[in-house]
Amino acid sequence: MTGIRELLLSRIRDVADYPEPGVMFKDITPLLADPAAFTALTDALAEIAESTGATKVVGLEARGFILGAPVAVRAGLGFIPVRKAGKLPGATLAQAYDLEYGSAEIEVHAEDLTADDRVLIVDDVLATGGTAEASVQLIRRAGAEVAGLAVLMELGFLNGRVRLEPALNGAPLEAL
Ligand code: PRP
Repeated sequence: MTGIRELLLSRIRDVADYPEPGVMFKDITPLLADPAAFTALTDALAEIAESTGATKVVGLEARGFILGAPVAVRAGLGFIPVRKAGKLPGATLAQAYDLEYGSAEIEVHAEDLTADDRVLIVDDVLATGGTAEASVQLIRRAGAEVAGLAVLMELGFLNGRVRLEPALNGAPLEAL
């Protein structure tokens, strides 16, 4: 895993003071533009999907779509988008969660998940864990089981893992 970790890290660009002063933004576009790195990432995430026995991949808008969709194809699984509120046309389940200032809401099409599904959640970054925690709740409310959470990066100083562990209830959290 050391080789892939170095490859992935080398393709993530730090952008200072974006989107606001004091924030160091982790830009994954150089990684996406490099076919060797993007393929290695997709393969590693697909291995996690297979090892967890997932039947579906859920991607979190927006960068979780870019990473999660090829993982679903590679692992031979369906892909389900969890979107920000108001973007899905069918009957949805919605889950609100707190931000530093205010709140946000995510949605999934209710018919996309069933009690037979085991879901691997894929996203680019685990920061505070608020988005991922709301996704776990959404998937459970849809009647499905959470097989795990797989992210490219974990910002450990924000303690998202600590926040998420109770919600994951023993399901693995893998950060590449
Ligand atoms: C970012 C990131 C994760 C989330 C992590 O998405 O892609 O989904 O924040 O933060 P958290 O762990 O504190 O919840 P963002 O909301 O910026 O959306 P985007 O991908 O559409 O830009």
